[in-house]
Amino acid sequence: MTLDGDYLPDGATALREQERRLQGCQRCKLCHGRRTIVFGSGDPRADLVVIGEGPGADEDVQGLPFVGRAGQLLTRMLASVDLARDEVYILNAVKCRPPGNRNPEADELAACAPILAEQLAVIQPKVVLALGSVAAQSLLRTREPIGKLRGRLHPYGNAVLVPTFHPAFLLRNPGQEYKRMAWEDLKLARREYDARRSR
Ligand code: URA
Repeated sequence: MTLDGDYLPDGATALREQERRLQGCQRCKLCHGRRTIVFGSGDPRADLVVIGEGPGADEDVQGLPFVGRAGQLLTRMLASVDLARDEVYILNAVKCRPPGNRNPEADELAACAPILAEQLAVIQPKVVLALGSVAAQSLLRTREPIGKLRGRLHPYGNAVLVPTFHPAFLLRNPGQEYKRMAWEDLKLARREYDARRSR
């Protein structure tokens, strides 16, 4: 309650309300092939938010982000810096599965951007971990490749953005070099999280 009696919803309630309003969304052509809108999951007050590109087949069925093979690797990546999935908030740049797991297209990313912005306005993360070039490029509005974006911090509103390789890319490219770079990025994200966290 505020002093004048207006009710201000907490983060969980605000996100639930956003998710409810999103049901039946037809803002872009991804609505035609999706089974479920994959809104996001985790702690609504998380200081660290993980942003992927878009749901795959498993996520489309279960309605939760990063639950397939890439998601299992993401869970291990987070654990490697002592973070549990329920301590962070995990979401995607687009909320509906692109057909055949293709990358989301520019118009789809643009249609979903206000939804993502609304989510971030509620969560107010201190650190954003962007997975892969689609998420990193669309959040940072750049065409620079992920190999150039990663390894350093980017200002992102009141937060700092850490780009790294997408776990699906790491599964397709199992060389030690990419793993080592991703590990460096995760440690960077962890350091920023420790320095900036509010709780
Ligand atoms: N890949 C993504 O980018 N997001 C998911 O939710 C799953 C796989």
